[in-house]
Amino acid sequence: MKNDKTYYITTPIYYASGRLTVGHCFSTVLADICARFYRLNGHDVFYATGSDEHGLKIAKVAKEHNMTPQQFVDKTVDEFKYIWEKLHISYDKFIRTTDKHHVKLVEDVYNKLFESGDIYLSEYEGLYCVPCETFYTESQLVDGKCPDCGRPVEKTKEESYFFKMSKYQKFLEEHFEKNPNFLVPESRKNEIYNNFIKPGIQDLCVSRTTFDWGVKLPFNDKHVAYVWIDALLNYLSVLGYGGENQADYEKFWPCNVHIVGRDISRFHCIIWPILLKALDLPLPKQIHSTGFITLKGDRISKSKSNGFNPLTLVDKYGADALRYYLAKEGPIFNDIPYTAEQFINTINSDLCNDLGNLVSRTLAMITQYNGGTIPAPKVKDEEESNIIRTCNEILAKCQELMSEQKVNDTINAIFAVIRQANKYIDITEPWKLSKDPSKKEKLDTVLYTLSETIRICTTLLQAFMVETPAKIFEKFGFGKDKQTFDSIKEFSFDNHGNTVNKGDNLFPRLDVKKEIEFLDTPTVAVEKKVEEKEENKANTVEFVTIDEFAKTKLLVGKIINSERVEGADKLLKNTVKIGNETRTICSGIAKYYKPEDIIGKSVVVVSNLPPRKLRGIESQGMLLCAVDEEKDELSLVTIDRPIADGSEVC
Ligand code: ME8
Ligand code: MG
Repeated sequence: MKNDKTYYITTPIYYASGRLTVGHCFSTVLADICARFYRLNGHDVFYATGSDEHGLKIAKVAKEHNMTPQQFVDKTVDEFKYIWEKLHISYDKFIRTTDKHHVKLVEDVYNKLFESGDIYLSEYEGLYCVPCETFYTESQLVDGKCPDCGRPVEKTKEESYFFKMSKYQKFLEEHFEKNPNFLVPESRKNEIYNNFIKPGIQDLCVSRTTFDWGVKLPFNDKHVAYVWIDALLNYLSVLGYGGENQADYEKFWPCNVHIVGRDISRFHCIIWPILLKALDLPLPKQIHSTGFITLKGDRISKSKSNGFNPLTLVDKYGADALRYYLAKEGPIFNDIPYTAEQFINTINSDLCNDLGNLVSRTLAMITQYNGGTIPAPKVKDEEESNIIRTCNEILAKCQELMSEQKVNDTINAIFAVIRQANKYIDITEPWKLSKDPSKKEKLDTVLYTLSETIRICTTLLQAFMVETPAKIFEKFGFGKDKQTFDSIKEFSFDNHGNTVNKGDNLFPRLDVKKEIEFLDTPTVAVEKKVEEKEENKANTVEFVTIDEFAKTKLLVGKIINSERVEGADKLLKNTVKIGNETRTICSGIAKYYKPEDIIGKSVVVVSNLPPRKLRGIESQGMLLCAVDEEKDELSLVTIDRPIADGSEVC
C-alpha cells in the first residue's frame, strides 16, 4: 500500500521522432529536482521517464530516414539517454512504449475495455493532425489548421473503435469539483474545465487502420491502438502493473504528480482519469502543467542554434548551469522567453557572483585569518541571530514550497539566504576585524557562521545541482558524502575544526558578448556527440563470457544435396545431414559456389537459430562462412579431416 513516505513523479514520455530540445529538458529537470529533493527528504522515490515510440508520425519520419520504425526509435532513444546522462537525470526507470511488458499492458487494457463494453466499433470521419497525433472537429481548427501546432490537418475516414468517454462526464466533473488541486495551475484548470469538460466530453476514437506501427488490438489486428491511450499507460507499465512483479505498482501508485507541458495537459486531465476510472484504478493525485520555453515568442521545437541545443549548453557551461537556469525559471506556468543573453547573465549574476563569490570569499578569509581551519563560534550578536534564524527556517520553507513542486520559489529562497550571507560579510567587515586582535572572537564567529550557512544551503542545493555541491563540501572538508536534510534541521554550532581547501573558483565569469555570439551560431553538436559515442562503442572490444559463447550450438553437418532457388540468384538451398537429423538450410553463397561443388562437404552449422523463411523456404540454421568484403571473396568453413556429422564444434 502506498504511504506518505513514498513519492512517484513522472515526466511525459517524449516522442522518439526527433531530437530533444531545451524545452524537453525543462520538464525532465524539474521532475529530477523534485525526485532528488524528496529522496534527500527521506522519501522512497520512483521517478519515471521514457519514450513514446508508436504512431504515424514516427513511421513517417523513419521512412524519411530509410530506416524501419524500430531502427529509428532505437537510435533516438540512445540520443535521449545520452542527454539525460549528461544532465544527470536520476530516473529510476526509463519506459519505452515498444517494451514487451508495456505492449502487453496496452493489449490487456483494450481487451478489458472491449469486454466491459467501454469500447465499441464505429466509423471515424474527420480531421487528424499527424504531428500532434490528435483528432479535431472542423470547429476546433484555427484558420483551418491544427489549433495546437498550426500545421495542416488530414481528412481521414476509417472503421474505428471508440472509447465511451461520454459515459464518464459526471464522474470527471465531480472529480474536478472535489479535488481543486487535481490540475495546477488554477488558470489551466479553468481553461480545460470550462472549454473541454463542461461543454460535454465526446467519445474518443481509439484505433487506427491506415498504418500499422503500433500495438495491434488483440480482438482485431487490422487496428492499432491510438497512441495517446498507448502512451498514457506508460505510467502504469513502468511500475510493472499487470505483469508478474507488481511490487512497484503496489508501493507507488497512485502517482503523486505527473509533470506535463501545457499542450498535453488536456490528455492527462480528461483521457487519463477516465481511462483509469474505466479500469477501476485510483487516479493520480495531481497533474502539474508547465509553460513553454520560447525563443522570440516561438515555442522551441527544433535545434536551430547552439542556444537551443541542450548538449552544447551542458558541454560549454556544465550541467549545473543549465539545471539552475531551468529551475530558476521554474514552473511559472506562463511561457518563459529564452535568450542567450538572459542565460549568460543568470550564470554570471547568480552562480558566479552570489554563490561562487560567497564560497570563495569565505574560503579565502578562513585561509587568511585562521590558517585554513574553520574556527569555533564564540559570540552571538544581532547579525548572527538574524542569519541563524533564516538558516533555521529555510528547510521547512523549502519543504513546504516543494510539496507543491514550486521549484523556482525554492531555489530563489535558497539563493536569498546566499545573498543574505554575502550581505552579512559586507556588514561585519571581517577584513577590519582581522586587524584588531580584540575582535578575534567576533571574527571567528563570522567565519564560522558563514561556513555553516554555506553547509546548510549546499545541502539543499543537492536537489538542484549535481556537481557543485560535492565540490563545495570538499572545499570545506565536509566530505564528499551527501549531507542529509536531517543534518540541517537546525543551525549547528559544532561543525568547526575542518581544514579548508580553496582550490578553483566554482563558476568562472563569462564574457557576455562572446558567449552570446557563440550561442547564436548554429551547430550540429548533438549529432556529432552521439556519433562519436557510437564510434567509441564500435572501437571497444566487447567480450562474451564462455557461457554466453556456449549458448551458440555449432555442429558438423554434411551437405548431401544442394540446388539453386528459382528467382533468387544469391541463394542455395542445401540439404544437410547432422547426425540422425536432416535439415534444409538456405545460404546466400550461390555467387561463390555451384551446387555440385559443395555436395559432400563437411561444414559448420549454427544449429540453434530459430527457423526463418527465405523465399518461401524454411531455413533451419546457418552455415558458417569466412568473408572478405574488400575482395568480395567467400569460403565455407569446412572440416579438414574426416569426422562424423553431428559432432559438436567447440
Ligand atoms: O507530447 N518548453 O511528447 P513530446 C517546455 N509523447 N516544454 C516543452 C517544450 C518547450 N519549448 N517543447 C516540448 C509528447 N515541451 C507525448 C507525451 S505522455 C503520456 C506523452 C514539453 O516529445 C511538452 O509540453 O512532443 C510535453 O510536455 C513534453 O515536452 C513532451 O513533448
Ligand atoms: Mg509535442
